[in-house]
Amino acid sequence: MDKLRISGGVPLAGEVAISGAKNAALPIMAATLLAPGVHRLRNVPRLRDTQTFARVLELLGAKISFDGNLLTIDTHTVKSVEAPYELVKTMRASIYVLGPLLARFGQARVSLPGGCAWGPRPVNLHLTGLQAMGAKLDIEHGYIVARDVKLRGATVSFDVVSVGATAQLVMAAVLAQGTTVLENVAIEPDVTALGEALVACGARIEGLGSRRLTIHGVSALRPIDATIIPDRIEAATFAAAAAMTGGRIRLLGVVPEHFEAALHKLEEAGCAVERGVDTVAVSGPARPSAVNVVTQPFPGFPTDMQAQMIAVCAIAEGTSVVEDTIYHDRFTHVQELARMGARIELKGNVAVVNGVRHLSGAQVMATDLRASASLVIAALAAEGETLIDRIYHLDRGYEALERKLSALGARVARVR
Ligand code: EPU
Repeated sequence: MDKLRISGGVPLAGEVAISGAKNAALPIMAATLLAPGVHRLRNVPRLRDTQTFARVLELLGAKISFDGNLLTIDTHTVKSVEAPYELVKTMRASIYVLGPLLARFGQARVSLPGGCAWGPRPVNLHLTGLQAMGAKLDIEHGYIVARDVKLRGATVSFDVVSVGATAQLVMAAVLAQGTTVLENVAIEPDVTALGEALVACGARIEGLGSRRLTIHGVSALRPIDATIIPDRIEAATFAAAAAMTGGRIRLLGVVPEHFEAALHKLEEAGCAVERGVDTVAVSGPARPSAVNVVTQPFPGFPTDMQAQMIAVCAIAEGTSVVEDTIYHDRFTHVQELARMGARIELKGNVAVVNGVRHLSGAQVMATDLRASASLVIAALAAEGETLIDRIYHLDRGYEALERKLSALGARVARVR
């Protein structure tokens, strides 16, 4: 199994081009099922998760070709409506095929995702929303099964803001008969990007970017030709690396407003941040100051940056309090950071981080995507060498991470 060896202590310096966003690419890949045709998605990050989703589409019958970051998906040939457990269990986002399959074929057999390494991640809102639109869904042998579905417009008010359920119902509603109103929707840039890609191919969606969407169903859509937005979490992770190493990194090809909450928190921790039109420069302080963080749906501080921010707080001067209100158990990085000398006390979904002056390199284990990212940036700042095991988690969500870090001066190597 691949490991990452990092010798810490080098302030990162230079420019880094940010890749397309994984969490924007996945729902748009699913949306290609809505219209038979040849779809072109540009700036798709080459990651394990986009490869896995491509595999799901292939199993349904789509023809896939990757040329650099251009992904071409031909959905003329889609015949199957089954997303098998073997793939869904490795990537929960596979459930995104459910709404499009119901919208186009009126039937689906999609595995339920099952548990997640960091606590319950239910899909009840996806299911009740589709049921409100007329889908009769049965659970059979671990699969969500639907037959003879004719989706029709409905009003659905989410009691929890959910990125996945919002995207799922948007995809179902664009081809449904009549008008769907979705209330209390997620307004993450990934959701808005999906809506914009659908509008560009003929969907009628009003209210994009607001908490209420009105979707008038149309009878057919044209194939999608879209450019995936930059990955705000990758960008914010590099910004956190600048903060931790006292370096200066210029992020290229970003939308600064998409990760404003993280930038603002890094400024509070002592970073200097210069926002350009599509660039952001972040200079880290000699030592960060403690900050308090509460994760919230967009535009709040993202749960996908909680682990990386805890790493920054681990070497900050003072005591930081970091609360995750989205995922209460998403703290597997805490024990690993402790092996590097971090002093973190976990009380439920709140981490109290007593900053230490230096972390020390150690052998640690990556446990999920963002936890792994927090170990990487901790290792970049730590004294001595860190060996991070199970880095396949990182390959799910960070494109060319070692190459990008090396170009910024980091001493990093992938070892077997
Ligand atoms: N929730 C429910 N019922 C549902 C769906 C969600 O109760 O049916 C709850 C969740 O348990 C959670 C909250 O709603 O407490 C928000 O979850 P959401 O549905 O927004 O999460 P998701 O769509 O499953 C996406 C990202 C995650 C990111 C979350 C939150 C993708 C593919 N995944 O997940 O990204 O953490 O939104 O922003 O877009 C990552 O990239 O590392 C990652 C995990």
